[in-house]
Amino acid sequence: MTVTTPLAQAATTAAATAHTGATAWAARIEHVSKSFPGPAGQQLVLDDISLDIAPGEFITLLGASGCGKSTLLNLVAGLDRPTAGSVTTDGRPALMFQEHALFPWLTAGRNIELALRLRGVPRGRRRERAEELLELVRLKGAHGKRLHELSGGMRQRVALARALAQDSRLLLMDEPFAALDAITRDVLHDELTRIWAETGVCVLFVTHNVREAVRLAQRVILLSSRPGRIARQWTVGIPQPRRIEDAAVAELSVEITEELRGEIRRHGRR
Ligand SMILES: Nc1ncnc2c1ncn2[C@@H]1O[C@H](COP(=O)(O)OP(=O)(O)OP(=O)(O)O)[C@@H](O)[C@H]1O
Ligand SMILES: [Mg+2]
Repeated sequence: MTVTTPLAQAATTAAATAHTGATAWAARIEHVSKSFPGPAGQQLVLDDISLDIAPGEFITLLGASGCGKSTLLNLVAGLDRPTAGSVTTDGRPALMFQEHALFPWLTAGRNIELALRLRGVPRGRRRERAEELLELVRLKGAHGKRLHELSGGMRQRVALARALAQDSRLLLMDEPFAALDAITRDVLHDELTRIWAETGVCVLFVTHNVREAVRLAQRVILLSSRPGRIARQWTVGIPQPRRIEDAAVAELSVEITEELRGEIRRHGRR
């Protein structure tokens, strides 16, 4: 199934799927601009962003606060429409945010089963699949736990399992680990890269943490500020599993941080 935003071009989708039945990309962002009404008229937040995201690719989207990262993710999610251009995705993406957005009155397992139900998984299969997903995020045995019985890191694992329950080919993550302590975040980085490798899901991960971006991604994309444009991209060839404290991760992070500082300075002068 291919989901397009209302402004998307069906012809592009048809061309991409004609021969193989599968698209050659998990998401395609074509000349996307987005403006919001502001006190001084329309405020241009994203300006002419074009990006093809390959199936199974892991991309981190990096940029200063307010540069439009969440806006772009929301457009890919289909939660909002671009002012110009189009976004096309291979199926409906799954979403995960900084706040877990789980239902507190349901157990960990029931939260996942609800996502399975919405996807049309038959009742008899849901419990077993929820157990499998909990095992995948290393929460075996947590099915009956209430959310208040779980730590922040465990709740984010449940949220990840729920996102994976949607069986999407594209997982959109907006600073999902930003509220966690450094050690828990480090463990979840390991888990996420393992799950990414095991499932083949494509991940578009928003962060303003340069080290995190380099630790995780195959490709890091830096957005400029006001308006957000693709300032630069890096292909990260450092083999996985990486550690956030690896020398190679640190080295590339220094280079990207310099570039990010330049963007912030440039913006500050205007
Ligand atoms: N619905 C909206 N209406 C008006 N302005 C908006 C709306 N959503 C976002 N903006 C503006 O667009 C700009 C980009 O916001 P966005 O949330 O995408 O930034 P961000 O890069 O995700 O920042 P952060 O790192 O702080 O999360 C900001 O100036 C914000 O005020
Ligand atoms: Mg944001």
